[in-house]
Amino acid sequence: MEKLDIPKSNKTDQSEEKQNKQEFINSILLQPLQIDDLLIQNRLALAPMAGTSDTVFRCFASQMGAGLVTTELISAKGICHDPELKKNYQYLEINPQAESCIAIQLFGHEPLAFQKALEIILEHPILSQCHFIDINMGCPVKKVVKQGAGSALMKNPELAEKIVQTVRQFSESYHKKVSVKFRSGWDQNQINAVEFAKMLEAAGAQLITVHARTREQMYQGKADWHIIKKVKDVVNIPVYGNGDLHDLESIKAMHQLTACDGFSIGRAAQGNPWIFSNILNSNNSIQMPAKEEWLALIFSHLEQEIAKEQSERSGIIKMRSQFSYYLKGRRNSAAIRNSIMQCTNKDQIKRLLESVDFT
Ligand SMILES: Cc1cc2nc3c(=O)[nH]c(=O)nc-3n(C[C@H](O)[C@H](O)[C@H](O)COP(=O)(O)O)c2cc1C
Repeated sequence: MEKLDIPKSNKTDQSEEKQNKQEFINSILLQPLQIDDLLIQNRLALAPMAGTSDTVFRCFASQMGAGLVTTELISAKGICHDPELKKNYQYLEINPQAESCIAIQLFGHEPLAFQKALEIILEHPILSQCHFIDINMGCPVKKVVKQGAGSALMKNPELAEKIVQTVRQFSESYHKKVSVKFRSGWDQNQINAVEFAKMLEAAGAQLITVHARTREQMYQGKADWHIIKKVKDVVNIPVYGNGDLHDLESIKAMHQLTACDGFSIGRAAQGNPWIFSNILNSNNSIQMPAKEEWLALIFSHLEQEIAKEQSERSGIIKMRSQFSYYLKGRRNSAAIRNSIMQCTNKDQIKRLLESVDFT
């Protein structure tokens, strides 16, 4: 007898889709990742972002479900010149009780500077509680690249190799893991992430994050995730994919294409640490929290930055870009943002934020 093709109801499709999402979350995203004796609780990571991913923001991201968080990039040489960390502690500061697995990210081009910086970091009572030392080989900024650091190291694999070997050797005695973040390559004509990744693994990297853009692209253009797949195919260490992840759907798509082990979210988390809980709760669209929760988190962010800076004015200045991120997409946000930029008093700012339209 001929089989009838009975169309499924919309409702069945929807519940099947929901089930698929939940299965993906349970079987992939919520799986811990073991690296020797270290257990990363799940597969979501907050990408390092200068100006955003300080300890205050990383605590929020961790609370919301990011399993791995990374400091912004910090100069290895800068630390060598500041052994008491008078200038650099504000960037290096970590909160081991409230953050998930923590990576401290260093940039530089001299193996010896990395070693000396690590001596300072890993002998420090609090900083020594980090889990990873992450080496930046992806920063595209001229000031960094000019020194031969950041993404310039992708053009100098011999030096990159020496840096990883040095960092691994040194970190191992402190039981710290070593990770590296890099890009597809320098430009469209020099895509070398695959060979670079093999070299990093052989040199001692224990986890790598691939930002699927070239240095030439900076942060523009679409990330080409195919390069993540190619890297994943040739190494045996965990590979985190990065570039254009903004919800569960994009993470699923990256996983399907690349089979990568973890997912590193950058700009989509700015002003939206809830992204991690939204993803893990299978809410596919970016859902904002209720106004009270939104305000409470931003006020707490502001108060903590003021306390960190030990100055209301400096804390407010530091928060300016964060206010813009938090306000992005809000109906009456442009005028409120402009008014906030003029404020030097936290109570004025709170009143302005309270006037944001959540209807
Ligand atoms: C404002 C900003 C600051 C960044 N700072 C760093 C950094 O300190 N270290 C780093 O490795 N990458 C840094 N990045 C790159 C991000 O970690 C990430 O690779 C990039 O934004 C691509 O991911 P996305 O498409 O999810 O944003 C920064 C990106 C932005 C937008």
